[in-house]
Amino acid sequence: MPIETPGRRASEQAHAGDTQAGFALRRRSGWLTLRDMSLLEVGRTHSCGELRRDNADASVVLFGWVHRRRDLGARIFIQLRDRDGITQLDFAEELGEEAYKLAETLRHEDCIAVRGKVADRGENANKEMATGEIEVKVSEVEVFSKSQTPPFVVADDERLDAQENLRLKYRYLDLRRPVMQRNFRVRSQIGYLTRKSLAEAGFYELETPYMVKYTPGGARNFLVPSRLHPGQFYALAESPQIYKQLFMVSGFDKYFQITRCFRDEDLRNDRQPEFTQIDVEMSFATPERIFEPMEALMRTLWKEILDVDLEDSFLRMSWDEAMARYGSDKPDIRFGLELNNVTEHVRDSGFKVFDGAECVSGLCVPADKAKGLSRGVIDKLTEFVKQRESGGAKGLAWTRIGDDGSWSGAVGKNVKPEVQKALAEAMGASPGCVLLFIADEWHTTHTVLCNLRLHLRDKLELLDKDANPWRFLWVTDFPMFEQNDAGQYVAAHHPFTSPRDEHVDMLVSDPGAVRAKAYDLVLNGNEIGGGSIRIHRSDVQAKVFTALGLTDEEAEFKFGFLLEAFKYGPPPHGGIALGLDRVAMLMTGAESLRDVIAFPKTQRGQDLMTSAPTVADDPQLAELYLTHRDLPTKDE
Ligand code: AMO
Ligand code: AMP
Repeated sequence: MPIETPGRRASEQAHAGDTQAGFALRRRSGWLTLRDMSLLEVGRTHSCGELRRDNADASVVLFGWVHRRRDLGARIFIQLRDRDGITQLDFAEELGEEAYKLAETLRHEDCIAVRGKVADRGENANKEMATGEIEVKVSEVEVFSKSQTPPFVVADDERLDAQENLRLKYRYLDLRRPVMQRNFRVRSQIGYLTRKSLAEAGFYELETPYMVKYTPGGARNFLVPSRLHPGQFYALAESPQIYKQLFMVSGFDKYFQITRCFRDEDLRNDRQPEFTQIDVEMSFATPERIFEPMEALMRTLWKEILDVDLEDSFLRMSWDEAMARYGSDKPDIRFGLELNNVTEHVRDSGFKVFDGAECVSGLCVPADKAKGLSRGVIDKLTEFVKQRESGGAKGLAWTRIGDDGSWSGAVGKNVKPEVQKALAEAMGASPGCVLLFIADEWHTTHTVLCNLRLHLRDKLELLDKDANPWRFLWVTDFPMFEQNDAGQYVAAHHPFTSPRDEHVDMLVSDPGAVRAKAYDLVLNGNEIGGGSIRIHRSDVQAKVFTALGLTDEEAEFKFGFLLEAFKYGPPPHGGIALGLDRVAMLMTGAESLRDVIAFPKTQRGQDLMTSAPTVADDPQLAELYLTHRDLPTKDE
């Protein structure tokens, strides 16, 4: 038997009774009764995004916020908004006198409940709104809470883009905007579908600590002082990397976690100091065995959330090929304009800019697109390639091939005719094309051309609007090591990444040439994930440490616990981590990670709503045995 409660009785009466009289009664009899009989107790019948023509004449209760208000005197129209959508409400004296009077007092962002009847708008349907076929004729309204005038109009208004700091300060209002509500619906779906997809594929969801041992190298860590061990610190985990490998030693076979990672990095639009990974590790793994459930996950997300069918298998490309063709380890393969390395062709070109350069490479802008490259535009491109953010080229050598086959520009003037002919052939150039060249060190030439290629993508609108807009790519076989500014080898991924089997012997003799079983998942020029097969043999690990210049003692100090664990029968294993925020950003079309992270930090690492970080007071510091030092002055 249902339990009798005042609320229950009230809601039944409210459903059954005369609503006008009910409202008057509640109003007269004071707060307690009002609460007992409130529309809150009655409960909503629909969301604000749900009603259609089929619901005409239904009696409904809706909850939401006042989005827009239009007062036409005898009628007041209010758009009511909740996370699912917006519904138009119609208030008039003949529909409900009290309700109409209250509607006169309603303002933006008041939180209200209404009861009324759904009316078909017939020919007056609003095609712009999902619920535009109907409106609700309101007989009863209840104000849950009033809103102050909000600091900005809660709407999908492009002008708000420029006011990001204001939006971040009042983030809870910013999050009410329909576009943000959609972003977070998508984000929630990504989490749910990831858990479902990976659980069904046999992965255990397991947690790992956030407060971990500080290990130098990799990303800069945030430190957490220990009160119980004065002078000692935990680090906030930059990823669960070591723990997930230990899970494999523990025999869990397949692990995943949707987890927060913390990195004290310089921030950009696609980087946050705390971000979320879909972190995965598998025993007995090969790269292909890891790609398979990741591709399945991507296909599920795109199908379920965007109703898009992705291809059955994503393209794979080695790092060497990606660099050669696109100058990038995360190439945008939605368009061509590939790099042409012509170093050999211009060995003896007669042009001082080319002669003796370590690497000369160029782009051939096809004739139909090259029309947009006037002399003035090319001058601007020259400025662009010289900027430090573009890679800092010394200049941009160019030529336009005339209809008569003549070459203009510096390349036309300086390069010998027979070399011009060879270049045209190598680059597939024909009359009308513009050729753009960079001559520099290998790294600079590739970085600059990569950036120039992406710049031209936007400037010349090189993306084909009818083509597949989602181009996934696995970039494989990354270099094992990178050289830092001091010329020392450092791990390109992390020191447990396995080299390709046939490269093990080169670990010490030629580290720069060693390729790793490391891979990234790239989508439309964005790195959305990265991982590797790990080393599980101590002899190979020792060689890697040697190549990195780590002594046995240093290796023991940094990673002793992992090396110890690897003495007890570790399975071959590997894994990957996907950047969930980046996946959400791309799926929603957001411009910045900040639009898919509910409470993000600014580029300067601040939370403008709570004003974190803040200073710690002396007693707090004393407890931790920490003291203030003078802050650096501006000039320091
Ligand atoms: P990695 O460092 O490549 O690998 O990170 C994996 C993915 O996480 C995302 N990502 C970020 N997203 C937002 N803000 C950041 N600051 C940020 N940094 C990284 C990227 C990236 O591809 N433990 C290894 C994975 C492994 O080897 O299994 C790792 O963390 O999308
Ligand atoms: P200069 O003789 O220095 O005036 O250069 C002639 C042309 O070559 C100009 O268009 C420069 O922008 C271009 N240029 C100069 N240095 C480089 C370089 N390293 N790579 C490509 N183009 C360059």
